[in-house]
Amino acid sequence: RLLKRSVFFSVQDEAVDKSNFKNCNHIAFYRRQKLLHPGKSLYQALLDSVTLCNDSVKLQIINEKNKVPLLVEIYAIEGNIFRLKINEVSPLKSRYEVPDVLIKEPTTQRLSIAQKEAGILVLTCASEDRKLHITANPFQIELESKGETVLSVNTNGLLYFEHLQPPPQNRLANNEEGRSLDQSNLDHLENQEDLGLWQEEFGSFLDIKANGPSSIGLDFSLHGCEHVYGIPEHAETLLLKNTSDDDAYRLFNLDVYGHKIHDKMGIYGSVPFLLAHKPNRTSGIFWLNSSETLVEINTKAHVPSRSPPDITKQRVVPQTDVRWMSESGIIDVFLLMGPNPFDIFKQYAQLTGTQALPPLFSLGYHQCRWNYEDEQDVKTVDAGFDEHDIPYDVIWLDIEHTEGKRYFTWDKKKFQHPKRMQELLTRKKRKLVVIIDPHIKVDPMYTLYSQAKKKGYFVKNRTGQDFEGICWPGSSSYLDFTNPDVREWYADQFAFKSYKGSTDILFVWNDMNEPSVFKAAELTMQRDAVHHGNWEHREVHNLYGFYQQMATAEGLIKRSGGQKRPFVLTRSFFAGSQKYGAVWTGDNVAEWSYLKISIPMLLTISIAGISFCGADVGGFIGDPEPELLVRWYQAGAYQPFFRGHANIESKRREPWLFGDENTRIIREAIRERYTLLPYLYSLFYRAHTTAEPVMRPLWVEFPKEQETFGVEDEYMLGNALLVHPVIEQEATTVNVLLPGSDEVWYDFRRFRRLDYPGTLKIPVTLESIPVFQRGGGVVPLKTTVGRSTEWMTDISYELRVALDSKDFAVGELYLDDGHSFQYLHKKQFLHRKFTFHKNVFSSSCADEIGQYHTKCVVERVLILGVQKQPTSVTVSLHDGKDKEVVFTYDAKSSMLTLEKLLLNVGADWEIHIK
Ligand code: NOJ
Repeated sequence: RLLKRSVFFSVQDEAVDKSNFKNCNHIAFYRRQKLLHPGKSLYQALLDSVTLCNDSVKLQIINEKNKVPLLVEIYAIEGNIFRLKINEVSPLKSRYEVPDVLIKEPTTQRLSIAQKEAGILVLTCASEDRKLHITANPFQIELESKGETVLSVNTNGLLYFEHLQPPPQNRLANNEEGRSLDQSNLDHLENQEDLGLWQEEFGSFLDIKANGPSSIGLDFSLHGCEHVYGIPEHAETLLLKNTSDDDAYRLFNLDVYGHKIHDKMGIYGSVPFLLAHKPNRTSGIFWLNSSETLVEINTKAHVPSRSPPDITKQRVVPQTDVRWMSESGIIDVFLLMGPNPFDIFKQYAQLTGTQALPPLFSLGYHQCRWNYEDEQDVKTVDAGFDEHDIPYDVIWLDIEHTEGKRYFTWDKKKFQHPKRMQELLTRKKRKLVVIIDPHIKVDPMYTLYSQAKKKGYFVKNRTGQDFEGICWPGSSSYLDFTNPDVREWYADQFAFKSYKGSTDILFVWNDMNEPSVFKAAELTMQRDAVHHGNWEHREVHNLYGFYQQMATAEGLIKRSGGQKRPFVLTRSFFAGSQKYGAVWTGDNVAEWSYLKISIPMLLTISIAGISFCGADVGGFIGDPEPELLVRWYQAGAYQPFFRGHANIESKRREPWLFGDENTRIIREAIRERYTLLPYLYSLFYRAHTTAEPVMRPLWVEFPKEQETFGVEDEYMLGNALLVHPVIEQEATTVNVLLPGSDEVWYDFRRFRRLDYPGTLKIPVTLESIPVFQRGGGVVPLKTTVGRSTEWMTDISYELRVALDSKDFAVGELYLDDGHSFQYLHKKQFLHRKFTFHKNVFSSSCADEIGQYHTKCVVERVLILGVQKQPTSVTVSLHDGKDKEVVFTYDAKSSMLTLEKLLLNVGADWEIHIK
C-alpha cells in the first residue's frame, strides 16, 4: 500500500524534496501495466476484418482474454511517415484524442495490400520503397524501408489497452459479458494490491476517476540502434539511458523547484518524441498523447530472427526497445522513417509545425530577476548597461510588478507610470517583458476574475464548481485554455485598451503553467478537475501550458492588428510549442553541475522541435560565484535564448557587480553574442522554414561518426560553428572533439587552423569561449555592436569564410525588418548566398521571391585557410565594373583580410583572388 503521508511543500527549499513527487511505483497505471510482462502478445489481428480505404488500412485486433476488439488504423503519410492509431471499436464513450497539436490533417498516401494469407498481411506504399509486415498471431507490425527492417511494433507483446467500463456499482445493470471479464480479474487483483482503478491516493490526496482505468501502452523495437535521444524535459544526459524497473522517463509537466539533476522525473515540459540513430539511419517515434506518459528504454544485443540458421554466422546487432505507457487517451503514434537526421526534423515539423520566427530583439540579451523593484530600479538597471557599455535588449518584470499578483495590472506604488517607463525604454530602443501566469486570484473586485467567472471560463472540479487552488495570489482559479472561447477572450486581454499601461514594446512571459498549484498533489492540478468538453484534467495535463502560450501569442499578434511577431516565453510546453515562442528550463541552481546539464537539456529540447530555448544564466536559485557567472554568460551567449535571471532571495547580479575584470569578460561575451546575431537570425530562419534545429548535437552534423553520438559537452550552432563552453571550475584546458576525418577546423576567435581533427587539448583562460569554425562555411557577423539590436540595423557586416580541404565554402544570410510579418505577407526579406569556389567569392540571391531594400553593406571579408599570398584582389559588381580591393595576408594563420569593401548586402558581386 502507499504510504499515507502528508505532502509538505515549501517554495524556498534549496533543493527539490522528491517526496513531493511520485516515483513510478506511486503511479497506478504503471503498476497495472507492469503486470503485463514481455512475451507473446495477447492481441491477434483479425485478417478478415481488413479494409482498404482511400487514406488508410483498417483492421480489428482482439485481446484473447477479454475478447474486446480494438480498431487499428494504419496510414502512410507523405514524406516517409507512418501513423498507427488504436482505439476501441465501440468505446463506452469517446476517448480523448489530442487536438490542436498537428498543424493539419496529414496528407496520406495510398497503401496497397501486397499479401494477405497465412496469417500475414503485407502493405506497400507505392511512392516510396516502404512496406509493412503485419503478423496476425501475435499481432505485430514490422516497418521496412528499402529492404531494411527499421522498426517493429509490439514485438515484446506489450500492447496494453484498458477499455472503458461502467463503474462497479453500475455493472450489474450492464450485462455485457465480455466487458466485465477482465474488469473482474483486475477487481480481484485490486483486493490484493492497490491498482488505482477508480481512485488513487498519493499522500493525503485522492484522485477520483470518473472513467475508471483507461491506460494504454505499446512497445517498439528499433533495429540496429543503441543511441536514442529526445523525450524532453528531463535534467538528464543527451543520450537516453536504459531504464531500470521503477525508473522510467516520466513525461508529466510539473513545477519542480531546484529539480535534481540526472533524474528521469517529469519537470516543466513534455515532448513525447524520441529519436533513434545509427550511422546509416535516423528514425523517430512521436507518441501523440497529452496524459501522463512513461517511457522505458532497453538497449540490448540482439540476434535478428531472419539470420541464417547456422549459429556461427549469426550476427549480433544492437537493438533498443522502447515501451510507452500513458494514463489515458488512445494510441496515436507517428513513426518517422528518416533516413537522415534532417529528414526526421522535417517530418516532425510537417506534423507539429516549425519554430516561429522570433523578433530580432528577442535574440539579444535579456535581463531578468525576481524582481526589479520599481520604475526607478528599472531605470537604473537600464542605465547601468549603457554606463558599462554592455548591449541588452529586454528588461523583465516578475510577479511583484502586479497589484497583488493580479496579472494584467500594475502595483500602484512601485509601478505608478508604466507607460512612462516603457516610453523611456522605447527611446532606448529596448523592450519590456512582464510575467502573466495562468492562475487568477479569486477576487470578485478583480475584473479578469469576475468576467471569467461569469463566463464560466475556469477549470471546474469534479462537482462542477470552479476549481480553486493556491498559487502566488493565494486562492486562485485557473483559466481553461483548452476552450477556444477562453483562448479568444484571453487573447483580447492583451489589446492595448484592455491591458492598461501596456504599450507595443511589452511582451510576455507565461510561468507556473504546468499548471502549478501549491499544496496539491505533486504541486499541480488534480487530475479529476474538469475541462471544456467534459474532459478530465488527466487527459489534457501536458497540454495546459501549450494552450496558454498559444493564446498569449495570439493576443500579441491581435493587438498589433496582425502586423507584429509576438514574443512569449513559456515554462511548460508540449509538442508543437515551437509555433508560439520560446521555452526555458525553469528553476535551476547556481552550481557548476547545472551549467553542465543545461547543454544536454537544451540539445534535447532543440531536437524535439523547440529551437528557441535557454537556461537561466547564472542559475536561478542561490548565488553564483563570479567565475561560474562568467562561464554561464559565455555559454549563454552561444545558446538560442539568452537571459540572466535570479531568484528573489538571490543577491543582485547585474553583469557589472563583480569587479572590473569580470565585468569586462561578461561584456565581451555579450558583445560577441551581438556580433553573431546575423548568423543566429539566419539560423532561426532556417529553423522556421526547414525545421533545422539552431543548436544541435554533434551527431546530427556527423551522423556517421560514432564518437560524436554521446557528446554533450559541446554542440553545433548551425552547421558552421562548434561550441565547447567551459563548464569546469578553474579550467585551464578543455578537451575538444573536432569531428570528421576530412574536416578542417579553425579557431573562431584567433583564426588559426587546427590541423588535426580529433580530440584536442585546448588551453583556456577565464576569457576563452572555445568556438571553432568548420571549414566549408561562411558565418555572417556584424562588424561592431550597438546598445541593442535596434541600434544595429545599419551596422555593416563581416563575412567569415573558412575554407575546407577543397578550398570551398558556402553560407547564407537572412534578413528582414526584424519585427513584422511582412517577410511572410509582402515577401519583404533578403536571403543571400555566399560561395567561395575556385578563388572567387561571390554573393548571390538564395531566394528570388524576397524583396527587401537595405543600405547595409558588407565591409569586411575574412578568408581563413588561404594557402598563399594573392597578387591581386578585385571585386566585380553586376554593372560590370571591376575595382581593386585592399587586402592583407597573414601567412602564419593563412588568413586573407579584405577591408573597406562597402558592397551592398543585397547586391550580387564577385571577388576574384589571384
Ligand atoms: C517560477 C519561475 O520558474 C521563476 O523563473 C520565477 O522567477 C518565479 N516563478 C516567480 O515568478
